[in-house]
Amino acid sequence: MALIVKRGQVPKTPHTEFYAKPGVLSLEEIHGSYGFSGAYSRKMHLRRYPTEQVRPPRAAEFQLKPELVKPPLQPFHILASRIPYGGDFIRGRRCLLWGKTTFVSACKPDRSMGEKEFFRNGENHELVFVQEGKGVLASEYGELEFSPRQYLVIPKGSTVQLRLSSPRAFFLVIESTYPVHFAPHYLNAQGQATLMAPVVESEIGLPELRPPRDEKGEFRIAVKHNGGRMTRVTLGHHPFDLAGWEGALYPFSFDSASHHSIAREIHTAPPARQTFQSGQAPYSGFSVCTFRAQVEGWHPLDIPAPYAHYNADSDEVMFFSNASYGARQGVIEPGSLTFHPGALPHSPQGEAAKRSLGLRGKVSDYLAVMVDTFFESLEPTKAALAYSDKSYALSWARERAR
Ligand SMILES: [Fe+2]
Repeated sequence: MALIVKRGQVPKTPHTEFYAKPGVLSLEEIHGSYGFSGAYSRKMHLRRYPTEQVRPPRAAEFQLKPELVKPPLQPFHILASRIPYGGDFIRGRRCLLWGKTTFVSACKPDRSMGEKEFFRNGENHELVFVQEGKGVLASEYGELEFSPRQYLVIPKGSTVQLRLSSPRAFFLVIESTYPVHFAPHYLNAQGQATLMAPVVESEIGLPELRPPRDEKGEFRIAVKHNGGRMTRVTLGHHPFDLAGWEGALYPFSFDSASHHSIAREIHTAPPARQTFQSGQAPYSGFSVCTFRAQVEGWHPLDIPAPYAHYNADSDEVMFFSNASYGARQGVIEPGSLTFHPGALPHSPQGEAAKRSLGLRGKVSDYLAVMVDTFFESLEPTKAALAYSDKSYALSWARERAR
């Protein structure tokens, strides 16, 4: 993120003597990506290092490594809306799709995390789409409010505590080994979103830093690492102890309504809808597109429904926030997730192309989030199969017959 943010108190010159509290030397920490070479933030702890554990680390009582069942190659329709609610932002996670660097989970918590409980994803950056629910994502960087249809970007290594202000929530959690940021082809050489981009970086929501929690006690952080293993780390002080921070790596929110769609006279391929990217597309990682209100092609003969496509180097995951997406009309429901492996082509169903002619030049009202991996195959997990529509692979022929 090119937007450098400063919150609270930090010394003007990095790594110099600084007292946020009289007589107490503040302790600096760098939270960085790509080693010491990527986006980073400088955090000023009030008086203690983030390394001060007071109990031996131990395996957590739960793990997030999913069970893989390797079904035959086929397209999948996962009815994520039918997954029961339960747990918090960590225990409520069910990994549905598993890759080498990309992981997609549904998380449907019905409670806030405990006051002295924290979560740190030590192996992946997270992009969360809020399908349902409201609350606050608190971290050492401050408090970030969220509401439906927003994205939350949480850098790997952030210590978070998610509190709900609604009885329950439904999150799509996309994890990546690589940092998540706006698509580089929409940024200029200075890292600023261009005037042709669908996003404006100043529309992001930023965490508001609260006064440092200068508290002693036992504060347990569940750290995710090494493919979903969970380890408990216990600090003797509150982890939200920053007097200030500044830098380019921090959690932020982005409203899907702030993705300002770009239209074309004839059908536009998904990269025009790209919001985020992770890794070095098109060689690794994934792109994330926001399919939202936009003028469909206004050419007198335009077909608004997409073409059949066989993007052999990409596995495609699509999460449908509502069921208005014409190409899957009658097949999906709000909260559905389709997974089309790159080894197979996919297309609209039944008469979707003919039906879409009526949308020519009109503004569509669908909302969907698409993840396209690059050179990475995903595996559906046992949890995904448990909520899958078993007849989805035959739905194209079925809809045609109808
Ligand atoms: Fe597709």
